[in-house]
Amino acid sequence: MVMPHTWLRELHTESTLADLPSHRYAASPLTTGSEVATAFDADPNLPGALICDGPRLVGMISRHVFFQRLSKQYSREIYLNRPIRILMDAQLPPPLCMPASRRISEAAAPALDRPHDQAYEPVVVRAADESVRLLDVYVLVRAQAHLLMMAHSAMLQSEKLASIGQLAAGVAHEINNPLAFATNNLSVLRRDAKVLAESVALYRSAHALIAVADPALSERLTDLDDRVDLAYTASNLPDLVDRAHEGLRRIQNIVKDLREFARADLGDWTDVDVNEGVASTANIIRGRANGAAVALDLDLRPVSFVHGNPGKLNQVVMNLLANAIDASRAGGRVWARTRSTPAGVVIEIQDEGAGIPPDVLERIFDPFFTTKPPGQGTGLGLSITYGIVRDHHGSIDVQSTPGRGTCVRVALPVNSTAATAAEPPSPVKVPVQA
Ligand SMILES: Nc1ncnc2c1ncn2[C@@H]1O[C@H](COP(=O)(O)OP(=O)(O)O)[C@@H](O)[C@H]1O
Ligand SMILES: [Mg+2]
Repeated sequence: MVMPHTWLRELHTESTLADLPSHRYAASPLTTGSEVATAFDADPNLPGALICDGPRLVGMISRHVFFQRLSKQYSREIYLNRPIRILMDAQLPPPLCMPASRRISEAAAPALDRPHDQAYEPVVVRAADESVRLLDVYVLVRAQAHLLMMAHSAMLQSEKLASIGQLAAGVAHEINNPLAFATNNLSVLRRDAKVLAESVALYRSAHALIAVADPALSERLTDLDDRVDLAYTASNLPDLVDRAHEGLRRIQNIVKDLREFARADLGDWTDVDVNEGVASTANIIRGRANGAAVALDLDLRPVSFVHGNPGKLNQVVMNLLANAIDASRAGGRVWARTRSTPAGVVIEIQDEGAGIPPDVLERIFDPFFTTKPPGQGTGLGLSITYGIVRDHHGSIDVQSTPGRGTCVRVALPVNSTAATAAEPPSPVKVPVQA
């Protein structure tokens, strides 16, 4: 049976060696070879034995090297019955040591850059409290491959969204002009229709006079009146115009969202208190959470200021919270967390809701992609969120298990490069009106 690597799913770009499964089997230099062999037999995943003299690490022998030595002629008799120290003395190269806080992306290269015969030797991982564990290089390489795959699909995604963004901005721009004059003309029409209705009513009141003066004209007027139900048409006109107005207003909102997604305007950048933004946005959306019987929990740790647009960052939190609440069952729970990392600030929105199947997960950032019934979702929330996070030089990743829930993690750099800290990035080259 193939064991699923559940730990892989938890990994993200900031993950360190501490996030990988590792082993701790420590033998003393006096432990016999047969005891070490028994330990290797008991756990087929054990990559090696740490040799510790009291608290001090004095060496390491990998499973591979151990059995290789044992396979030599006569060596079973020598090594199995004697202290492991003898094997260690057989000039093993010192193991590669790394701190547990090292990022996976930075750890894989030095491990694989070792001479070929040592490239698969386990790595000694040292925690902050000086305790050591052994990391199988297969696990490290598997994690690195997974992260590269994630980065690759994120890159494809961002290329795809960049071209959709250009298209969207172009379309939004083209729609904007006719939309503006249709809206203006409709306002004029509304005013004129009122006057027209008044004058028609006046003419109709003169019907008796017309009947006397020109019976043929009067008959044509009565005919027309019967055919179009003039009274109803006149009274219905304002309603008709109002509904057309509502339709245009909705188009206007969609165009606004599309331009937002395509980074039409960046607004003012300041130092943003992310915690304040998350707290106030949570307050705004709490009513919706209560309505859906979903508990909303905040866990906001001290974080540094982020340079950016506070309104836009709130919109990110709002979109993510709205999605998390929408995905939750009654009685469910949604968490909004913030924390500080060496690279910046992380905002995490987690739910225990429906989760996202893998085939849907690939498309959630696409504009207009929604699984919600018509009228409930526009499918623009996450594409706008993506655009805003990108403009803040941040990253966004989504981990989801269908049936168990979803966690969306937004990482924002605190100390972005001087150029970006001083001013917002220059907009992508799309024909967008300011
Ligand atoms: N927390 C979540 N749990 C489950 N599905 C989600 C979650 N967030 C987003 N989705 C999926 O992504 C789709 C797109 O989200 P979004 O762009 O915000 O548009 P909308 O909310 O209007 O559907 C949603 O329709 C839903 O299928
Ligand atoms: Mg949404």
